Amino acid sequence: MSVEQTLLIAAARTAHDQAYAPYSNFSVGVALLDETGTVHSGCNVENAAYPLGQCAEATAIGNMVMAGGTSIKHLVVLAEANPPCTPCGGCRQKIREFTTAKGIPVTICDPDGNIVLELNSAALLPHSFGPENLEKA
Ligand code: THU
Repeated sequence: MSVEQTLLIAAARTAHDQAYAPYSNFSVGVALLDETGTVHSGCNVENAAYPLGQCAEATAIGNMVMAGGTSIKHLVVLAEANPPCTPCGGCRQKIREFTTAKGIPVTICDPDGNIVLELNSAALLPHSFGPENLEKA
């Protein structure tokens, strides 16, 4: 395993332990690597008004943007993994915003940090719509 992946998994575990998930009791931690090699992480943040809950991916992406990061190079999701916790549909689109159509590696881990699935984000959202669609010729 690369040093980068080990660091991402450790950061995702720490984020998982920060989750605010009193309604689902399903804690999620995400860590991502940006184009400068900086790691950003986030947890899910639920709300008594259930639909307003925020996924861990959104928290991590927001933290990246706040720190000046512009592009995701690798993303780790860590949660109960039976079945593996793949990003929800909305988060697939949020991840796509900061990658290219070619995709980036996505690693899914269980709460102990064991890798249960490795895939490419483009496989999660084929034929995706992204920023390039809005570029003028
Ligand atoms: N959740 C995430 O944070 N990320 C995922 O990839 C899947 C689901 C959260 C949303 C909600 O707080 C809880 O997990 C149960 O759906």
